[in-house]
Amino acid sequence: MRKTTGGGFGVSCLSALALVAGLAIAAPKPAAAGGSVEVLHWWTAGGEAKAVSALKDQFEAEGGTWIDSPVAGGGGDAAMTALRSRVIAGNPPSAVQLKGPSIQEWAAEGVVANLDDIAKAENWDKLLPALLKSVVTYEGHYVAVPVNIHRVDWLWANPAVLAKAGVAVPTTWDEFNTAAEALKAKGIIPLAHGGQPWQDATLFEVVVLGLGGPAFYHKALVELDDAALRGDTMVKVFDQMRRLRGFVDPNFSGRDWNLATAMVINGEAGFQIMGDWAKGEFLGAGKVPGKDFLCIAAPGKGFLLNSDSLVMFDVKGADKIEGQKTLARLVLGETFQRTFNTLKGSIPARQGMDLADFDACAQKSQADLTKAIAADSLEPSMAHEMAVPRSVRGAIMDVVTAHFNSSESSAEAVAHLADSIAQAR
Ligand code: BGC
Repeated sequence: MRKTTGGGFGVSCLSALALVAGLAIAAPKPAAAGGSVEVLHWWTAGGEAKAVSALKDQFEAEGGTWIDSPVAGGGGDAAMTALRSRVIAGNPPSAVQLKGPSIQEWAAEGVVANLDDIAKAENWDKLLPALLKSVVTYEGHYVAVPVNIHRVDWLWANPAVLAKAGVAVPTTWDEFNTAAEALKAKGIIPLAHGGQPWQDATLFEVVVLGLGGPAFYHKALVELDDAALRGDTMVKVFDQMRRLRGFVDPNFSGRDWNLATAMVINGEAGFQIMGDWAKGEFLGAGKVPGKDFLCIAAPGKGFLLNSDSLVMFDVKGADKIEGQKTLARLVLGETFQRTFNTLKGSIPARQGMDLADFDACAQKSQADLTKAIAADSLEPSMAHEMAVPRSVRGAIMDVVTAHFNSSESSAEAVAHLADSIAQAR
């Protein structure tokens, strides 16, 4: 693990070597104020791109040079493939959007920088909620800076469309099914969905939480308990997934998540089940929460957590190291947390901020998060890489997508799920 801060390890090492060897080395090129940073991320949809460009602007205002490396593809699977090849080639980007156990996996490979000095100077121990601190530290050292807190278990709805079909806001999956049938009868697409494995997995985990509750979710998708995976509740989950399959339009396959959000925005569809990055799309289209769109906690009692972090990779050169320091400091700063999260649809990762200026959905998210922490019903998102290693998530996604796109029975899918997870572990 390379130390990012505390005087530039790269430069002082070089000077020390030169002294030992009795050589005169040219003074290192002075780093630009702010330094330079290359950021690999998958924030390419409307609201996401606006949010990332707010970070770029703040970084450049500090005198830094920003090199943008976006890799399109919701959920980040394409970005992770790109990252792996950059690291193998010995040319990692300076900062990378990462989450959950992946942060630990990269840290264990010894290719990330240590951010302890900056964390100490900026008092991260006080600024971060305990739940995020454990995500961004490895063996007691800070290796990442958290950007946001996203909630995954949201139901987005177009109230004008619901009214057309005389549909009330559902609070259970049975009510959701009834509402969806009513929309269908009016010729409206009940559920806007994009058939991509990570989106299928997002539906799946929201249904697991909704039908099983937080304790079942934890047993099945965090502890990967075989009995929970093979039990009756999981059979019911796949039954509900089959119902949901009947509520999507025939062109759902491969559709990007933001295009599905657009279907709710323009009244083609009634609902979308998606994390609150979808809110960035509604806001970007000038829509007002509570009036033009509704953010409803999906049926279930809990909170599915997803949090993006920026991990600084081990790069060489004073200019790049300075850039990493500037970026890490900015990201947890109050100004960035406010601007970025307002555009992105998330809430701040930094504790103690006044959310009075945030919209009603963000305020609900914050209130529900606080309740979930108190009730021990906060659960990490499996689909968004907060819960299990990538290999296990991949196995779960394969099963869920195969079931969604076939006539496999729920009993078969459950056996398939438990067997695949056992193999992937
Ligand atoms: C990320 C979000 C992103 C979403 C869609 C999630 O996994 O955490 O930041 O907006 O994927 O790409």
